[in-house]
Amino acid sequence: MKYQIAVIPGDGIGPEVITEALKALHAVGRLFGHEFVCTTVLMGGCAIDACGEPLPEATLKVCRQSDSVLLGAVGGLKWDTLPGHQRPEAALLRIRAELGVYANLRPAIVFPQLIDASPLRPEIIGNNLDVLIVRELTGGIYFGKRGRTADGTGAFDTEYYTVPEIERILKIGFVAARGRKKHLTVVDKANVLESSRLWREVAIRMAKEYPDVKTDYMYVDNCAMQLVRNPTQFDVLVTSNMFGDILSDEASMITGSIGMLASASLGDGKCGLYEPIHGSAPDIAGKGKANPLATILSVAMMLRHSFHLEREAVAVENAVRTVLDRGARTADIAGRAVATVGTREMGQLVTDAIVC
Ligand code: IPM
Ligand code: MG
Repeated sequence: MKYQIAVIPGDGIGPEVITEALKALHAVGRLFGHEFVCTTVLMGGCAIDACGEPLPEATLKVCRQSDSVLLGAVGGLKWDTLPGHQRPEAALLRIRAELGVYANLRPAIVFPQLIDASPLRPEIIGNNLDVLIVRELTGGIYFGKRGRTADGTGAFDTEYYTVPEIERILKIGFVAARGRKKHLTVVDKANVLESSRLWREVAIRMAKEYPDVKTDYMYVDNCAMQLVRNPTQFDVLVTSNMFGDILSDEASMITGSIGMLASASLGDGKCGLYEPIHGSAPDIAGKGKANPLATILSVAMMLRHSFHLEREAVAVENAVRTVLDRGARTADIAGRAVATVGTREMGQLVTDAIVC
């Protein structure tokens, strides 16, 4: 089969990690007999520099015409002083909205080989920690009305959700839980926020349709605490855009490094958006030190969720396990030891370890 993929390397370490992920992708293509046709497009700071805007129309067009989108990271110090709507991050929000990818799946999985890299004690992490964060991605405070007061002394952002928006993301959560350990935790701040009370009402109603799923409800502050106190209590967490953003960074660190966390953003259309959850890391950009595994694991998610190539996805994930078994470590996952490999070497090791 032939698959069209729009590739957005972006800024900072984005191009470095994308290069390695594409090596792994093409190795899968060769081994399993698929053709992945990649079209590289500009988005973020590099697009501002080249075309004067963070998300050029041409980029959007290529993305819309593709079967899926693979994204590195956007943003950097150089563009930090631009007004909000012209920043690289605005492009990321817009592309998510334009592609309608409202469901962001962020699996926090601890590879047993990396238990030492986690700041938590091994007995807290347990044997096979596997938490899936389902983050709403195209609504809430990221997209609500925002502004400054006329006199400039105040500013506001609005958390706004409609019932259909809540229903469709909760459904993703319930269905995901059904295919796993059948435990869904709805995370909100219903003791304070009206939008959270609406989430909870909808969730309580929908839970009746999923009697096989154990559904519970947790305030986000408590959840942040529980994630480090006892992370193995969780299976699937479903939450709003901003809470999901914050909790997924926290959950990533439990796994040893944010450099390990992949993500898939899905909607009702065929085109998914796949990206590591880490950012452009300007401090290590260009140094060949970044961990490409989150992006490589995002490729695995793309193979699974957009192309339904389960065997191929597993082959990539197994290759990551193999290189970790062999002791390859980028700086972020070295724990107390010294890093053994850089970005390119890690990418090559994984690519070489992919087998049919
Ligand atoms: C993420 C990032 C983005 C977000 C930023 C860069 C806009 O933190 O994907 O988690 O907040 O969604
Ligand atoms: Mg984030």
